[in-house]
Amino acid sequence: MSASDVEQWRDPAKTLCHCHNVSAGRVRETIADGGARSSDDVARACKAGTGCKSCLPDIETILEQERAARPGFWGRLFRFMRGSR
Ligand code: FES
Repeated sequence: MSASDVEQWRDPAKTLCHCHNVSAGRVRETIADGGARSSDDVARACKAGTGCKSCLPDIETILEQERAARPGFWGRLFRFMRGSR
């Protein structure tokens, strides 16, 4: 994944799935607020990726970004124990 691949989806208004007119921001919401953990979860939440499927690699890019930005349980516990949230 190149830096441009990563950066292009930082704009929440940018349309990610043209088949269903779903923005990058809406996909992030399904992950951050809706708990989507896979492209199938994202598809169930907002239909992105259920048409021609050409946006699936971009959905995976956002899933990777969100996973990296949100540590799992042990990472959160470690941060809590250190006093930094
Ligand atoms: S662009 Fe997302 S399914 Fe076609």
